[in-house]
Amino acid sequence: MPVAGAIETSAGRSIAGGDLTTGRAAFIERAQTRGDLFVEQPYGLYSEANQETWRRLYRALAGKWERYAHPRFLDGVARLGLDPDRIPRLEDINRFLEPLSGFKARAVSGYVPAYLFFDCLRRREFPTTITVRDGDRLDYLPEPDIFHDLAGHVPMHTDPAFADVLVRFGEAARTAALRVRDGDCRSVESALRALARFFWFTIEFGLMRRPGGAGLCAYGSGLLSSAGEIAHSLESRRVQRAPFQLEWVVNQSFEIDSLQPLLFVVDGFRHLEGEVRRLERWLGEGRLDNVAPGEPAVSREDLRSFLDAGRQ
Ligand SMILES: [Fe+2]
Repeated sequence: MPVAGAIETSAGRSIAGGDLTTGRAAFIERAQTRGDLFVEQPYGLYSEANQETWRRLYRALAGKWERYAHPRFLDGVARLGLDPDRIPRLEDINRFLEPLSGFKARAVSGYVPAYLFFDCLRRREFPTTITVRDGDRLDYLPEPDIFHDLAGHVPMHTDPAFADVLVRFGEAARTAALRVRDGDCRSVESALRALARFFWFTIEFGLMRRPGGAGLCAYGSGLLSSAGEIAHSLESRRVQRAPFQLEWVVNQSFEIDSLQPLLFVVDGFRHLEGEVRRLERWLGEGRLDNVAPGEPAVSREDLRSFLDAGRQ
């Protein structure tokens, strides 16, 4: 039976009306029903429970960032003035971020189709989730939330060299889309899988050599936004840490719902950018039209986004 103040969804489910908890936010449900992908951040809807979740996550991660994160990430946290006690307002983040790298965080209502996501990066916009994960499952993240996006991704965007790498991903996606004007679904699907794997093993779960020193550090947002994963990625003997190899990465399946057993290490930002350029070249030459099957699955929506972009 629906509770007072709840909203009945099209699927007949009732959702709590008052906050911005992932999977239960009426504001998001309404935006999705209207087909609005880009939205405002309705800051007043964050409940005290949402704010408390942010505080707990921040407390769990701050010490680990000091120990395991790339120094540029720590710089970024300081430059953005991330508040340990309050969910940030995107407009405040952008006031600091845009002058540093031209990037800005842009609120979205949910999943962004793959081509559109990469094309946003090309235009220096970062699609940003505004909901907060459920406080009962702090370290479980079935989909991005604002902590993953703002605390995990955005501090790295303050670095101009890293920001350029993200733009190159957008260019690579464009190259892939333009090549498939004839609507060859198989090669588009393969190119998309290659792009997604590369993004996963770098921007989401990448390790980097410590600048000017020994050892490794984390720059991938999936590591930086997970208290369980960040230490595991750098300390566990169960993790295989391999030097980045493009041929391997684009053919390597991954799983999203367990601690990552295999991670790839780049030497630095220039190395990473060079590899994204090589990815783009290979996409343009058709060398990634038959990468190994496996995860991630490519959705029809993602496929369609590339085919539509190629026709324009
Ligand atoms: Fe992410």
